[in-house]
Formats: sequence, C-alpha cells, structure tokens
Amino acid sequence: MNILFFLGHIIGILPISTVLLFLLARLVSRHRCAQDGHGRGVLITGCDSGFGHQLARCLDKKGFVVFAGCLSPEGAGAQCLAAQSSSNLKILKLDVTSDEEVQRAKKMVQENLPEKGLWAVVNNAGVSDWAEIEWSTTEDFRSMLDVNLFGCIRTSIAFLPLVRAAKGRMVYVSSIFAFFNCLNMGAYSVSKRGLEAFADCLRVEMASFGVKVSIIQPGNFGRATNILKAKTASDIWEKLDDERKKIFNRQYMELANDYFTSTCQAGFKDTDLVIDSMVHAIVSAQPKGRYLLVSAVDMFFFRLFPFLPTALTDAVFSLSSMYAKRKEMLYAK
Ligand SMILES: NC(=O)c1ccc[n+]([C@@H]2O[C@H](COP(=O)([O-])OP(=O)(O)OC[C@H]3O[C@@H](n4cnc5c(N)ncnc54)[C@H](OP(=O)(O)O)[C@@H]3O)[C@@H](O)[C@H]2O)c1
Repeated sequence: MNILFFLGHIIGILPISTVLLFLLARLVSRHRCAQDGHGRGVLITGCDSGFGHQLARCLDKKGFVVFAGCLSPEGAGAQCLAAQSSSNLKILKLDVTSDEEVQRAKKMVQENLPEKGLWAVVNNAGVSDWAEIEWSTTEDFRSMLDVNLFGCIRTSIAFLPLVRAAKGRMVYVSSIFAFFNCLNMGAYSVSKRGLEAFADCLRVEMASFGVKVSIIQPGNFGRATNILKAKTASDIWEKLDDERKKIFNRQYMELANDYFTSTCQAGFKDTDLVIDSMVHAIVSAQPKGRYLLVSAVDMFFFRLFPFLPTALTDAVFSLSSMYAKRKEMLYAK
C-alpha cells in the first residue's frame, strides 16, 4: 500500500518537475550572456546619429571592437562619437548605397579584425519620408529602397562570410511600418517589408551555419533620433503636377502635415528600449527573431494587427476621423 502511494506520488510529481526544470533551463539560458565584447568586432551602419550612434557607444563600453559606419566621417556626429569612445572604436566612411564604399569598408574591417573575428553586423542606416503614393514618383521609391533595402542587402552579402566564420549575428532595423499599412507611408513600408522578407529568408539559410538573425521593429521614436526631416505642406504641393493638384487640395496637405507632425511628437523620448534590444540580439545566447518595440499600451494592438483580416486592418484607417476629413476634401477647391 505504501509502495503504491509512493509510486503515485512520484508519477504525480514527475511531470510538474519536468516542466519546472524545463522553464528553469530556459530562464538560465536566456539570462546567460553568451558573448562578452572582448576580442569581438561589430559593424554598425548609420552611426552619425540616432540608434546607430547610441549603440556604437554602448558596445564600445562593453569592450567590443566597434566599426562605426558613418555617412559623413567628418561631420559632427561621427566626430563626437570618436571623441567619446575608446581607441577600439573605428569610424569608417560607409554610404550603404555605394558598392565601392561597402567593399572599402570590408577591406578595412578585414585588416583590423580582432582575434575572435567579426561577431555581428547591425544594419541600421535608414531614411524616412512620408507622402501618399500618388504624390510620389518612382524615383522617390527608388531612393528610399536604395538605402533601407538594397543598402542592407549590399552590406549583408559583403560581410556575411566574416560573420559566418564567427557563427555570429545579423541584426536588421526594420519598423512597425513593415506590417502596419497606413496612409502616407507607402515607400517606407515597401522598404521595410522587403527588408524583413530578406532577413527572414536569411535566418532560415543561416541557421545551419550557426548564425542568428534578428529583426528590430521600433514604433515611434521620432523625438529620440534624427529620422524625421522637416517638411512643409508647400514642399509637397510644389511637387505635384496640375492634374494631381485638382485631386488633392492644398488645404488637405496642411492637414496631413499637421497630423503627421503631431503624431510624431507623441513618440518615445529616448532610445533605451531599442538599444537594449539591439544589445540582446547581439550578446544573448538566445536572441529573438523579432523585437517589437512599442509602448506597453500599444503592445496588444500591434501584436494582434498582423493576424487580423484585411477588412479589419483597412477599417482601422478608413473609419478614422482623419480619413473621413480626407475624403471630404478630395477634389475640393
Ligand atoms: N526613429 C524612429 O522612430 C524609427 C522607427 C522605426 C525604425 N527606425 C529605423 O531605425 C534606423 C535608424 O534610424 P534613426 O531613427 O536612428 O534615425 P537617424 O538618427 O536619422 O539615423 C539614421 C542614420 O543613417 C544614416 N544614413 C542615411 N543614409 C545613409 C546611407 N546611404 N548610408 C549610410 N548611412 C546613412 C544617417 O546619416 P545622416 O544623419 O547623415 O543622414 C543617420 O546617421 C533606420 O533604419 C530607421 O528606418 C527608426
């Protein structure tokens, strides 16, 4: 009787202990930092300002050998980065739209590789703009994609052999606009959705080489970086031809501009959330495939959004007051 009671006890406890042990193992491996910076190189693009600039400083403090790609090495951003960092941080001129500059940067990285090689590439350089698709030209799309999409593809193909040798990390800075389709963000969304498709395919291919690929999806950090370039309603209006001026009236341009400016003012004031996630993607033993970085209040909405039927995701905009005002103003004098 006692033996039966004892066996029953063991059988009852076994599944619970297995689950607890599993959870504990996951917790331990999640918090185990696989990599310290010592002897490891990281290339970051777009370090003149914003996330790239802050990440470069942070990784330099953690002991990584940082190759900080800057569009303007003589500019204030790059100079300030060099002045505030250790001698381990190297500024390189890197316009990601130029094959020649990417190859030159690769040569420079190869010549200065630390003992444990190039551990990570952070594809961060990016530009942003807003306009309705009908206000845009093919060239507007091309120039956006050249930096945000082809810039990352060009850099990745060049540096992958080095990262593969180190069984390291590839990190891509995307945006919530990769999946959140809204008014005025057509070109930016195309560039970021394309970027995520590239990174997702790469993750599958690189898994067998031990390289991990992460996507960072920041929400609105417009106040914390230089991503928002000043633009007026006149800038947009002057670009339109007569035919389009008859459809989208001037008053609506003002409204759209005010709306965009005020929305951007509501974002995060600092970059901490993004930098912490980038660091996790680089040093953690178990980096995530995606880091969605929005406020706690918005998290449920943005997690759900990609899974909603198209009619519902479209309705988020078509039922908004802004959309109603836009509809009233179309064709108006
Ligand atoms: N801030 C946000 O709210 C937000 C949200 C979602 C995603 N993101 C993404 O985050 C990334 C970093 O942007 P950020 O917000 O930190 O803005 P940022 O301060 O403007 O930083 C972007 C950096 O990329 C550089 N850059 C532009 N064109 C380049 C090129 N052809 N080659 C190399 N570098 C180039 C910029 O140089 P210059 O300063 O000289 O132009 C700048 O240093 C971008 O990919 C952006 O799309 C930002």
